[in-house]
Amino acid sequence: MTSVPEIQIADGVRIPQLGFGVYQVPPEATEEAVTTALEVGYRHIDTAQMYGNEQGVGDALKASGLNRDEVFVTSKLNNGFHRRDAALRAAEQSVERLGGPMDLFLIHWPLPTIDVDYLETWQAMIEIRDAGLTRAIGVSNFQIPHLERIIAETGVTPAVNQIEVHPYLTNEAVRAYDAEHGIATEAWSPIAQGAVLGDPTIAAIAERLGRTTAQVTLRWHVQRGDIVFPKSVTRSRVEENFQLFDFELTDEDVRAIAALNRDHRTGPDPDTFDYIPA
Ligand SMILES: NC(=O)c1ccc[n+]([C@@H]2O[C@H](COP(=O)([O-])OP(=O)(O)OC[C@H]3O[C@@H](n4cnc5c(N)ncnc54)[C@H](OP(=O)(O)O)[C@@H]3O)[C@@H](O)[C@H]2O)c1
Repeated sequence: MTSVPEIQIADGVRIPQLGFGVYQVPPEATEEAVTTALEVGYRHIDTAQMYGNEQGVGDALKASGLNRDEVFVTSKLNNGFHRRDAALRAAEQSVERLGGPMDLFLIHWPLPTIDVDYLETWQAMIEIRDAGLTRAIGVSNFQIPHLERIIAETGVTPAVNQIEVHPYLTNEAVRAYDAEHGIATEAWSPIAQGAVLGDPTIAAIAERLGRTTAQVTLRWHVQRGDIVFPKSVTRSRVEENFQLFDFELTDEDVRAIAALNRDHRTGPDPDTFDYIPA
């Protein structure tokens, strides 16, 4: 079985660089999808309260027979729970659904245009960590000013920042800020939900190496040092996406793929996104 490298993200906390994402996996299909991923060898699952499928993740973990400390589990605070008391309650509910404390808990979106200040939310995240509900805390979709503010006001640096990154949105400025401050970057939608898979530059590299375009794209993230968790409900793809550690891109390949950047977001802009689920 391929061995997945681990990255140190906080004192004593190490995360497998490759995981399995469950965004848009229907709740009733989640236990099966996560079971498949665990069978293939993934030991890192990325879910969120907003996805409505934490229970399926928890059920798969329980059914797997693996010890809870053998699988790294991330969840994210939903947008409606940014106030302190709501955040603490929501974190407790995640722990219950997942069957034990989380390894990493993130603020899903900063929501900078709504009236609940994400600074209050970050202070609540520190309490959530100190209460033992999660081993590490971080953020998602935070832009540089949001990061600067929470670090300056609390002195606590997020362990990770999970942001949209793929060959069509290389997000270099935020990645550089993360790196300078010891924040691990997690790249969401690493294959742009499939949009980069027909790219001729990536296809040419894939053909030369005898790999698929998905594998080349995921390997590109890995060689740049980012953490990835591609999503698939298709077993053959779950297997394909796990085979990233027995080949290498040249520096020139890495640069050629980065040069495909066109600042194209597949998801919302974090500066204006203000969705609160009903
Ligand atoms: N923090 C955030 O705001 C945020 C936002 C978005 C995503 N995320 C996280 O990032 C994870 C991954 O992102 P994502 O789910 O948006 O997109 P993604 O992983 O970039 O792409 C998933 C799509 O690509 C297909 N696919 C996967 N592997 C493939 C392969 N080898 N060949 C061809 N097609 C393949 C999947 O199809 P099938 O499933 O039909 O096989 C699915 O349609 C999420 O699951 C979630 O954990 C976080």
